Parts: sequence; C-alpha cells; structure tokens
Amino acid sequence: MKKVLITGGAGYIGSMLSTELVKLGFFVTVVDLLKYNKNALSHLYFFKNFKFIYGDARDKKILKKLIEQNEFIIPLAGLVGAPLCKKFKKDAISTNYGAIKSILELVSKKHKIIYMTTNSGYGIGEKNKFCDENSPLKPISLYGKTKCDAEDLFKNYKNSICFRLATVFGCSFRMRSDLLVNNFVFRSVKDKKLEIFEPHFRRNFIHIRDVVSGIIYALKNFKKLKSNIFNLGLSSANISKIMLANKIKKQNKKIKIKVIKSRKDPDKRDYFVSNKKIEKKGFKAKISLENGIKELLIYFKNNPDKIINNY
Ligand SMILES: NC(=O)c1ccc[n+]([C@@H]2O[C@H](COP(=O)([O-])OP(=O)(O)OC[C@H]3O[C@@H](n4cnc5c(N)ncnc54)[C@H](O)[C@@H]3O)[C@@H](O)[C@H]2O)c1
Repeated sequence: MKKVLITGGAGYIGSMLSTELVKLGFFVTVVDLLKYNKNALSHLYFFKNFKFIYGDARDKKILKKLIEQNEFIIPLAGLVGAPLCKKFKKDAISTNYGAIKSILELVSKKHKIIYMTTNSGYGIGEKNKFCDENSPLKPISLYGKTKCDAEDLFKNYKNSICFRLATVFGCSFRMRSDLLVNNFVFRSVKDKKLEIFEPHFRRNFIHIRDVVSGIIYALKNFKKLKSNIFNLGLSSANISKIMLANKIKKQNKKIKIKVIKSRKDPDKRDYFVSNKKIEKKGFKAKISLENGIKELLIYFKNNPDKIINNY
C-alpha cells in the first residue's frame, strides 16, 4: 500500500484529494492546522488507511517523523492567495517557502514529492500572451513570489513533479468562494448581477476533480513524469471573463451582466496557457466549465450566507 503524506490536506484541494486517495486504498496521513472547515475530513476518520495529525507543517520535528514514515509527499499547506499573504506576511513566507525548504532538507532518495504551484505569474500585463512551461514567471504578489521561490527549490531535487495549476473551480469539503469561477457564480446568486472590469482578460481554469485526477496520475506514473514542471489546466477553458460570465448567465438566466469600462482590474492577468506538455505524457483534464457552474449554482443557492474566503 503506497503511503502518502499530505500537508494542508484539510484544505480546498487537500480534502478532495485525501478522500479520493483513501477510497483508492492509499495509506494517507494528513497534517493540518484546520484553519478553515474543521470538519473537512471527518468523513475519513473511520478508515484504517487514514491518519489525521493536528499540527504545524513548519514544525521540523513533526515533519521529520512523518517523512520517515511515508514514500510520497504532497505539500499543500500554505497561505493561499494574494490578500491573505499580504495580511500575514511572515506566516506566508514561513509556510509557503520555509516549510518546503524544510521538507527538502529532510527527504532522502526514496522519497517522491508532488508539488502544486500556480501559473498566476504568467502574462502579467501582456495582452493575449501565449504561455508554456518555458515562459518566465513574473510574480507580483507576495503569494506568487513565495510559490515561485519554493518551486525553484525543486530544481535540485530530481524526485519531484511540479504542477503549475490553472485557477481551480468546483465544490470541495472546504469551500472557497474567492477563486474566480466560484466567485462569479457566488455573486450571480447573491447579487443577481455581475459587474466586470476589463472583460476581455483571459485566464485558464481547471475543475478540482481534474486536479485530483492529475495528482493521482502523477502518483501512479511517477517515473514517467518526474523531474518536470507541468502546466495543469483544462485546455478548452482558456477563456475571457466576459465569456465566463455569459456561460454562467446561460444557466442562471435572471442575472444582469454589466461591463464597467471606467474601472481597471488590479489583476492584470491576460494569457493563454498551453497544457500540451502534460497531455503528451498521457493526462488530460476533462471536466467542463458548464458542469462546474452547474454544481456551484446548486451549492451557492443552498448556502447563500455560508461564504468562506481566506481573508
Ligand atoms: N486553489 C487553487 O486555485 C490553487 C492554484 C494554484 C496552486 N494552489 C496551491 O495548492 C495548495 C492548496 O491550496 P488550497 O486551494 O487547497 O488552499 P486552502 O487554503 O484551502 O488549503 C490550505 C490548507 O493548509 C492548512 N495550513 C495552513 N498553514 C498551515 C500550517 N502552518 N501547518 C499545517 N497546515 C496549514 C490550512 O489549514 C488549509 O487546510 C497551496 O499550496 C496553493 O498554493 C492552489
């Protein structure tokens, strides 16, 4: 039975990933401070192939013991998103960068690491830029910088796979409504309208279940994928904000879309991301934006006030 350690495994991605891995028979250990939904993993406590440790992923003592006991490490613990990192600068650096550095100091040759970073530094301020894994990352937020600095550390560790994730969407046991698709659907339900700045800015998206499938593919095909960085996104979802808003309106017909020309979006991302490298290795994200919007509409219609942001 493959043993997998997931730091931050009670988060948006981690809770969905842990659940799937336990179902598939992996032995999963999660270490998390449960900063958000305290019950995000309670459905797993029953299973013998699951262990939860309440603890800090920056604590080298905890890490050392857990790393010795596991073969795969998936470090997800972090302060995620630009606003949260701006608010808690020290914690952002010590968790997003420091904890990764500690892991890399503690691992030996038997270990295999799968690391999630972000593609959010691509195409800043450049209109319709086409990006692949060789395009330079130019992070502008502290969040982006801590993630890029951590990704850099993996250059010296061959037993690793880095995924540069597109913006994730969909439902999870620990919900986030700050991510762009989730946020647009939430606002369409709550305000019955969507106000959009710079509507033609393009972004790439991926459903959370496709992220989980991509990680499982990496676990099962580690040798084939290792020592590489891959963009991980849904290739048919390189779309603009206005296209996304119109897709939401198709399913939530009553909403009004208003483009505000006078206002600039502080988020200057406008890029087309190529996911060809990972697709050539045999994994392709499949879940459509339409299906994601459908599930999100049900979620937010039934939880209109239970909106959770990170900050
Ligand atoms: N969601 C996305 O769109 C996206 C995109 C690109 C990259 N990522 C990366 O994926 C990872 C997970 O993101 P997420 O969306 O699931 O975020 P999240 O905020 O939902 O999850 C982070 C988890 O880490 C835990 N945590 C924070 N500090 C900790 C600490 N010191 N010790 C132990 N646990 C701690 C939190 O309690 C939480 O459960 C992050 O590294 C993030 O940078 C996410």
